[in-house]
Amino acid sequence: MPRFITELKRTHTCGELTKADLDKEVVLFGWVHNRRDHGGAVFIDLRDREGLTQVVFEKDVLPEVHETAGQLRLEYCVGVRGKVAARGANANPKLRTGEIEVHASDLEIFNRSEPTPFQIEDRLETSEEKRLQYRYLDLRRAPLQKALMTRARVNHLTRNYFTESRFLELETPFMVKYTPGGARNFLVPSRLNPGKFYALAESPQLFKQLYMIAGFDRYFQIVRCFRDEDLRLDRQPEFTQIDVEMSFVEQNDIFDVMEGLVCRLWKEVLGVEIPRPFQRMPFQESMTKYGNDKPDLRFDLPHIDITELVRRNGGGGVPMLKDAVEAGGIAKALRVPASMSFSRTEIDKLEEYVKGMGAKGLARAKVGEAGDWTQSPLAKTITPELRQSINAACGAQAGDLVLFQFGKPSTVHTVLANLRVHLAKKHGLIPEYGSNGQWRFLWVVDPPLFEYDEEAGVWAAAHHAFTRPHDEDVQYLESDPGRVNCHRYDLVLNGFEIGGGSIRLHDPAVQARVFKAMGISDDDARSKFGFLLDALKMGAPPHGGIAIGMDRLCMLLTGAESLRDVVAWPKTQKGTDLMTGAPGEVETRQLRELYVKSTHEPR
Ligand code: AMO
Repeated sequence: MPRFITELKRTHTCGELTKADLDKEVVLFGWVHNRRDHGGAVFIDLRDREGLTQVVFEKDVLPEVHETAGQLRLEYCVGVRGKVAARGANANPKLRTGEIEVHASDLEIFNRSEPTPFQIEDRLETSEEKRLQYRYLDLRRAPLQKALMTRARVNHLTRNYFTESRFLELETPFMVKYTPGGARNFLVPSRLNPGKFYALAESPQLFKQLYMIAGFDRYFQIVRCFRDEDLRLDRQPEFTQIDVEMSFVEQNDIFDVMEGLVCRLWKEVLGVEIPRPFQRMPFQESMTKYGNDKPDLRFDLPHIDITELVRRNGGGGVPMLKDAVEAGGIAKALRVPASMSFSRTEIDKLEEYVKGMGAKGLARAKVGEAGDWTQSPLAKTITPELRQSINAACGAQAGDLVLFQFGKPSTVHTVLANLRVHLAKKHGLIPEYGSNGQWRFLWVVDPPLFEYDEEAGVWAAAHHAFTRPHDEDVQYLESDPGRVNCHRYDLVLNGFEIGGGSIRLHDPAVQARVFKAMGISDDDARSKFGFLLDALKMGAPPHGGIAIGMDRLCMLLTGAESLRDVVAWPKTQKGTDLMTGAPGEVETRQLRELYVKSTHEPR
């Protein structure tokens, strides 16, 4: 009998045989996904990454092969040779291979499997801990296989796209000098340089700029980045960026290239045509209307800023509003249309929800036929003028509910931004994956260059100190830094920031003024970024770039709910790998070699 693998080579995958292949002699390799023993015949579904094929072992035809088939159990890894036959009345229309089955003439068991801790099924009830512990089994499941195959396709399409467009795929170091700002870095002790540490690169930012200064013109890289941040569903400590930098460009040139990439990916992977150009929205408008810089535009429910109305009406008879605005806070309203009708109990639940985010409460008003307010703590004292102005600003109709937040801007924005999404989810306003109108790409543009750090009492770079300010705002760098907007942009999709970048500051004179505005002395700047400052003085071209969060992009593209569904070997919320047990302890001897001493005291 010929031997599988050495002599009998695979002829097809388990996802491809159809009626067109009837009577062909085929060789398939895979895993036993399903098994039914009907006495005279053993049936299995053989699985590989492409799909399932039914294989039949008949006693009458080949008793020996049938006997071996009797030993098969789930997840045994096998090779099968046989002939393709029609399934006739037993066809399974749900499977691509559902019209045929393979009548086996040879079978080899490559390896047996112990009973697996969970079954390899599309839908699983098993805890995520268990799935992560046996990730290689979890990854055998069709949804994860599909997600990772999509990911591989995104890699391939991305490489082709950029290479066709004259970009060079160039690498950058992972072990880099620690530079302050940005995310917290993972540190790597240097054995050869006692007491010194490398940082794991949080992104290739400085190196890609140096590539531009070195004259490489157009760079891209699909690159791993490392950030020691608090983890969430859309954050991993190591993640992948599609990283891009270009010389001699302005913002529109970068948008053009990136929209081209995104449209190609959506077209090739999903067959969906995304209209171009993508919508753009100034950062300030996004904050005012949606309370954050990554609004989900698949539904409406905008915030209405009523700060000015309250101020103009001298508080309008409502001490809470008056005090909040006078103390430098803001006031916002959110109109919930009557069609979304809420019971009182539901509204009370909403109040609990917002309190969980640091809100003091959830002031509200039910709008009556004559524009009057009921069920509201504000209704008793508010002046008719302010009430009418708020009704008009919100476009409130009889039966609508108006919800309010006022106080510290950051809290008001966060609470109402989350509440907006919460309401939309609760009321099914968000189109489902696979339906029309679900892809809302948005460029959020022109944010402020600085953020005021209240604790430290200084202006800090909102993103990084090498972002180019708007030319017309450069004059305010010293007098009014908060007014300086910059050429930074984020690419947002359905409420997720999937990318961000900027046009860089290549002018050393303006750069020095930016550092000054941030309270960074020349010496300080030199010690932190000396190499880049030197490079910028040696004929640096105007340049800019962007990085797309590849994991987030794949998560949205595949309709997954967590990055863990598109990252093959993810970390848990606590940054651990449940399969290998990383991070693990090391021996004191190893630490000594690295000149490192642990201060951790096990409890
Ligand atoms: P930024 O920090 O905005 O920009 O990162 C770019 C994109 O990377 C994704 N991302 C993450 N994805 C998963 N897990 C994480 N922990 C994580 N952190 C970020 C996001 C984000 O939009 N060097 C600049 C880019 C540039 O200016 O060119 C940068 O890294 O989708």
